[in-house]
Amino acid sequence: MAPPDTSEARALALDAADPLRGFRSRFHLLPGSIYMDGNSLGLLSREAEAALLKTLDEWRTCGVSGWFTGESPWFHRAERVGALMASLMGAEPEAVIHSATVTVNIHALVSSFYQPAGARVKILADSLNFPTDLYALQGQLKLRGRDPGRDLVLVPSPDDRTLDERTIVDLMTEETALLFLPSVLYRSGQLLDVAYLAAAARERDIFFGLDCSHSAGVLPHRLDDWGVDFAVWCSYKYLNGGPGASAFLYVNRRHWDREPLLCGWFGNDKETQFEMDLEFRPQATAGRWQISSPGILGSSTLLGSLGVIAEAGIERIRERSLALTGYLMELIDAELTGPDHGLVIGTPREAERRGGHVAVEVPSGAAQVCEALIERGIVPDFRPPDVIRFCPSPLYGTFHEVWRTVQILKELTRG
Ligand SMILES: Cc1ncc(COP(=O)(O)O)c(C=O)c1O
Repeated sequence: MAPPDTSEARALALDAADPLRGFRSRFHLLPGSIYMDGNSLGLLSREAEAALLKTLDEWRTCGVSGWFTGESPWFHRAERVGALMASLMGAEPEAVIHSATVTVNIHALVSSFYQPAGARVKILADSLNFPTDLYALQGQLKLRGRDPGRDLVLVPSPDDRTLDERTIVDLMTEETALLFLPSVLYRSGQLLDVAYLAAAARERDIFFGLDCSHSAGVLPHRLDDWGVDFAVWCSYKYLNGGPGASAFLYVNRRHWDREPLLCGWFGNDKETQFEMDLEFRPQATAGRWQISSPGILGSSTLLGSLGVIAEAGIERIRERSLALTGYLMELIDAELTGPDHGLVIGTPREAERRGGHVAVEVPSGAAQVCEALIERGIVPDFRPPDVIRFCPSPLYGTFHEVWRTVQILKELTRG
């Protein structure tokens, strides 16, 4: 087999042939930097900026009446943004709501879905999930008088990078009440086979909740078809909603009569919310899991940024993301995994098993190499103990930036 073409000319040719290349100019890029951290905080698009400025203008000119007047009354904002989001997630519009944060949404949904009864008392999760998810699960178990040491079962990883779906299914027992997993693992970038897991969980009467923070906006989902019971995800990574922008939650239609226990007045039926009745009358949709007044400024950016994603098309975004990350892995394999540099790619190679970022393990000292990359204008991120994550964004990253990143990595890791 011919060795891969690692030339700069090839990177430039790939960019020239790229159908999504026009989207780069829609973003505020950081001058002098190559941004490889869209999986942590996506960059600001001109559309998101304009939508935020528009909301500020509404506030300036309408004051409190902005809740009910104008083009997009704030009172219905969470539903409107939720419906835009739903179309990217393979969900019906009323199954998704824009609300709170990921951790709060996990608490809100697990408090409804985790109802230990008889022998079914355990929550099955994984040892590689983002810590906040596990903290929330532990708290929910304690609220029910359960002992997380006994009732939180963590699927072990065979290699500290990935999970084996068959092992997860083997651990689904008659004692399992709830399965909670990430769609894409935050460190290695492994994409789980959600359809397979959802089918196995349903066969065994186990509720299945999913954290899609690392997949929303970078690959297509089919939440309704998969039959996932509920899901949560943040909006500041691939959705480019901005730092701390509110999150999303999804609840499958078959559970819209389930009781929200962390309830609040924005989950009340919209028709009667302002009657200020002391009895909570929940909405007939996933909107019933909203708790508080939506953060209107934070949600404004999403009106713009979700529009950009819809315009590019989630299928094309996935294609480009796979092409960029595939190219990155190809260059690293060709130039940096040998004994001179010693890098290891911790992300699965198969397209159907990886999300939008690549985890590169640097046994000689990932923290120092990450710092040196930042000094040279590359922005990746470090996850202890030895991982540097690289995310060439499918909307504003380029093949040439990937090529440049590898050249600098080559200089920094020469043994
Ligand atoms: C998988 C996952 N869950 C949850 C969070 C944090 O969510 P929040 O701060 O909105 O509670 C993150 C943050 O990066 C994450 O990657």
